[in-house]
Parts: sequence; C-alpha cells; structure tokens
Amino acid sequence: MKVPAAGEKLGADDVARLRAGMALQMDHYGGGRLPYVCLKAKGLVQHMTALEGPDAGRVVEVLDASGGYASACLGAGHPRMQEALRDGLERTGYVTDELGSLERTLLLEELFGAKGLWADRFPGDAYHASGRNSGSEGLELALRLVLESNFDRRRMAPKPERSERRTILAFEGAWHGWTQGLVSLLNRRHYRLGMPLPAAETLDVQFLPFGELAHLEAFFAEHGRKLAGVFVEPIQGDAGILVPPAGYLRRLATLCREHEVLLVADEVLTFAKTGRFFGMTDAEGPIPTDITVIGKSLGMGVVSTSMVIARRELSVRSSGAVSTSDLRPLTSAVMRSGIQYLSGEGLVERTGPLGEMLRERLRKDVAQAFPEVFQDVRGLGYMNGLELTEKASGNLGRLRTRLLDAGIFVEFMAGAGRRSRGLRYLFPAMRIAPPLIAGEADLQEMVARLQRGVRTFVESGS
Ligand SMILES: Cc1ncc(COP(=O)(O)O)c(C=O)c1O
Repeated sequence: MKVPAAGEKLGADDVARLRAGMALQMDHYGGGRLPYVCLKAKGLVQHMTALEGPDAGRVVEVLDASGGYASACLGAGHPRMQEALRDGLERTGYVTDELGSLERTLLLEELFGAKGLWADRFPGDAYHASGRNSGSEGLELALRLVLESNFDRRRMAPKPERSERRTILAFEGAWHGWTQGLVSLLNRRHYRLGMPLPAAETLDVQFLPFGELAHLEAFFAEHGRKLAGVFVEPIQGDAGILVPPAGYLRRLATLCREHEVLLVADEVLTFAKTGRFFGMTDAEGPIPTDITVIGKSLGMGVVSTSMVIARRELSVRSSGAVSTSDLRPLTSAVMRSGIQYLSGEGLVERTGPLGEMLRERLRKDVAQAFPEVFQDVRGLGYMNGLELTEKASGNLGRLRTRLLDAGIFVEFMAGAGRRSRGLRYLFPAMRIAPPLIAGEADLQEMVARLQRGVRTFVESGS
C-alpha cells in the first residue's frame, strides 16, 4: 500500500483493507478501540488516518505525546537505533544465557561494573540482573524471587523461620501486568512446590491506599511480621499518575528493612521518566530496593524487553525461570546503545525541569482553562497526568477523537477508582508521557494542540 503525503487521501479499498486488518487483531478494549491507523512515523510525528467519518482515509500528522504506552523514548526511527540494530545484527549473533555473550557482558559491565552507570545503586557484587520480554514477565520473576526466598530449595520445603510470611502488600490502583499463576499449569512437583496454587497454598495479598504514610505505618506495626514482600510503583501509573509525598518511599524502604520484608520496585513505567533513571530516588539519593524491575523505555521503542535487578542472594531454583530470551545479544546491544545515548545527551535529566515547565502550562492553559474537563494535574518529569472530572470521564471516546482531530495522541489511565479509608474516588487521567526526545518547543506545541482539542470537545457539548 502506498502511503500518501499528509493532507492527501487513501482510496476506499485501502481504508477497507486497514479496517479489516485492525479487526484481525484481538480487541482487548471491549470494542473501545479508536478507529484510526498509524501509517508511518518519524520522530514525534505519526502519520495517521481515520477509518470512519467524512475524513476517512485522509492522512494527518499527529504529535505523539504517549510514546506508545510510554515506551518509545527515542520516538520513531531514531538514527541511533538504526545504527544499533544494523551493527547489532552484523556483530552479535545469538546465544542463550547458558553461555556468556560479549554484547551482554558489555551491557552489564557498563551498568553494574565497578565504574558502571548504575553501580552506586546496584553494585555488581551485591546485585545481579535477568532479562525478560515484557514488564509483566519481569514482575512474574520478581514475585517468584520473593516466594522462593521463603523456600528451602535443598529440602524442597518452606523455611520454618519464614513459614508465616505468606502475605504480599500491594497498593490500591496498582498495575503490574496481566500474567498470573503460570505455575498452576505445570504439573511437575519440582516446579510447583512452594508456589501459590489454588486452595492449599494461595497467596494472601493485602492492599493499602498509595502515598498514605499513617496507614503504611499502622499496617506494618500490625502485619509486618507476616509480610514476604511489598510491590510498589514509585509513581503509580494506571492509578492516575500518583506521586507520593516526600519521604514516603524512603520510609517504606526502612519499614521493609526493619521487618525483613523484600521491597520490589516496579519501575517498568517510571524508568527514565522522572528526571532520573529510577523513580526510587529522593533528595538523599537512591532508595534501596531488593528487587527492581525496569521495562518499557528500556527497549527504546524498538524491542520489547524488561530487566529484573535483584540482590544476589535472591534467585530461583534450577531451571525455574529460564527464558529463551534472557538478555539476548541484539536486545543487549539496543539497550546499551540507547542508554549511552540517553545519558550522553542528558535526555533523562532534562525531563526534570522541562517536565516542570510542561505541568505549569498544563495547569494554566489546559486544566484551569477547562475546569469542566479536568480537576487535577500531577506528575514528575515526563510522567504527567490530568485527572478528568466525573462528567468528562463519561465521554472519553469523544475526547480522544477530538484530540486526534487536533493533531495530538495521548493515552488515558484508568484511575484508582474507589479507595479505602475514606479517601476520595480517583477518576481516569489523561497521561502526557512524551518520548524523551521532545524538547521545549515540542512540549509547547503539544499543549497548544491539547487546548485546541479540548476546546472543540467542550464546544461540541462535553
Ligand atoms: C507499572 C507497570 N508495571 C508493569 C507493566 C506491564 O508491562 P508490559 O505491558 O510490558 O507487560 C506496566 C504496563 O503498563 C506498568 O505500567
């Protein structure tokens, strides 16, 4: 199919073909997918076409304020990635993780070696890493590491001193991925023992509202000795971009250490978006974790990958977590080249001040200008959320369409919804998480387009 220039139109046959192609993919949105197709993309610009309405088939340029679920940190078709893929294919070949790989060595050495980029937080003599294909898989491995830490592999029985630790603490509104309970599908004793199985060995998961220090303290005082691990997003994403108050995450880390509970930071989304590589950071520096999972931007929008960085004493029984694609050499080459580029160009650091400027404008020019649509602006770096009003959240599809018409693509987070302890309901939030290559002028243009789109939404009867 020949892609026409922006402003021109595809023929009716091509539109029908694209519609049929879209229908071939399973719809996980309950029929709520937007009838638009991306035809090609470069940098921050996506060439899209609508599949319905009077303008069906017309090619329009849309600015990407989402990075495809916040993962394409270098935008589309970045020259650095073209080079990394070309060189990687030329050089790296393929080996499993049963063998070492030069490319994998280079990556891990640059990150965790003596002079590694992240050695202050994850020194290689205290931490080791594993690669997975997605954030969900990374979190599955993290959960597995927590459960195995309570299990004596030689005796193939729970460790008596940890046998009471069957509870996992998570937070209301959390999103850690969709895979679960794969162990239940494996019938060999070796793989099943000690894993949460239906009935006898179920996992007890307790939930707290995120960012509420008093509730956290009270929970640990009462249940701390029953906890095996805590799973936390440093900034909750799907819950509506919730930034915890200063000191909250460090206190959580301290409580975990005091109660011998493993702290798992799910940084799949926050990775490289908060003005730093890791969201588990405060004015004092890195906040210690036992396990950290990073993903999304780690694959630079080119490969789907995640990495689990865990204390060395945490591991899985023999063959219990072998993956065909654990830090495959080409993926390692992409990650290494991308991380070098991000740090060399200071792209992560600049999201701090640029993000602040962006939120200022989102507050003044978007949220305050349209109080019937938005009720709050929150965020850090390039992870920003505008919480919708109840009324606007009932018209999400129309809002998204108006925004696309105005030439901007954004994504929406579900919102934490009803929370416990009398806390207010949290409605869905519009997420502005642009690729890190977006500079000041791009952000200004995004705000202008958002304004335009929201105005049309309001004028057409929000
Ligand atoms: C915080 C967080 N954890 C885990 C995941 C799951 O990652 P994936 O979709 O790559 O499986 C996501 C995805 O949105 C996420 O936002």
